[in-house]
Amino acid sequence: METNEKIRNIKEELDKELEGVEKQQELVEVKAKYLGKKGLVTELTANMKDLSIEEKKELGQLVNLLKNEVTEMINQKQQDLQNKELERRLKEEEIDISLPSRKIKKGSRHPFQRIIEDVEDFFVSMGYDVVDGPELETDENCFRRLNVPLGHPARDSQDTFYIDDEYLLRTQTSSVQARTMQANTEKTPIRMICPGKVYRRDDDATHSHQFGQVEGLVVDKDISLADLKGTLEMFAKKMLGENTKVRFRPSFFPFTEPSVEVDVTCFKCGGKGCPLCKQTGWIELLGAGMVHPNVLRMGGYDPEKWTGFAFGTGLDRLAMFRYAIPDIRYLYTNDIRFLEQFSRKDEENEVK
Ligand code: PHE
Repeated sequence: METNEKIRNIKEELDKELEGVEKQQELVEVKAKYLGKKGLVTELTANMKDLSIEEKKELGQLVNLLKNEVTEMINQKQQDLQNKELERRLKEEEIDISLPSRKIKKGSRHPFQRIIEDVEDFFVSMGYDVVDGPELETDENCFRRLNVPLGHPARDSQDTFYIDDEYLLRTQTSSVQARTMQANTEKTPIRMICPGKVYRRDDDATHSHQFGQVEGLVVDKDISLADLKGTLEMFAKKMLGENTKVRFRPSFFPFTEPSVEVDVTCFKCGGKGCPLCKQTGWIELLGAGMVHPNVLRMGGYDPEKWTGFAFGTGLDRLAMFRYAIPDIRYLYTNDIRFLEQFSRKDEENEVK
């Protein structure tokens, strides 16, 4: 058969064969059949050695041309297969971007956390530092440095969880008063608040074995009870409303002298009397007083030169008042139905 004819046949045959190819593997086989060592194209040169130089040259050129063409055809097929595969995947993995997305559920700040942030905002704006202290505390910081020596009856009222003779779970954030005075080695004026958790052996609708307090301590020259009253009045108005009034009742705490208990006008009835305030018009909000000279002295401050005031209030009480929460335990049981009520409009605006 004439070489040209052979070449034409090869091309026709390849063309037909490629049409039937659907998979990569089949294409590999076709490629081997034509371009492999014993492939149809190579075979054309089988009797090369019997030819003259001229003929060799001519045949060589023809075969090279054919090789290029066959390669080109196979490459083209390869490209087609790849395009088809891509199309198939695009179709299969198509995403319907017109589908409405799933709503992301937004959490809300815990009422307890919100109270802390509001309290901090107020006192920071008045120039106070926010400090922290450990919940596992020493008897020394929680009691002795606060003028509550061993055997003092005030320890009973606080139902302490003791770890051993020296360590306990703090029953009051007042421990941070002792810490702050000691830590201030330069003995400069102090303005601090400390929000945090405290622990007592108590558990009913208005008491939890764990609850929150915020302590405040100011130590400076010429601090008087009037400063305390002014500060707490502003605080009460900020937390419970502009019309809130404050009254001081004499009280006792070992670490303050004089000591007061601070009531605020009932935010529910405005002071007229209602079930919440037990018809008195007043609600007890916090304990406070002028820092006891012994406490100043133990903190390294000369009570002849320095005076100060301190106050402590229950964060849970504040939260319960502010959000009308009937049971303190709601604050600690993480019931999502309870917590969801606290996603406020203004908070929704916070997340853009
Ligand atoms: N630590 C006191 C309590 O837990 C509250 C208090 C703090 C009173 C500071 C006076 C001064 O009851």
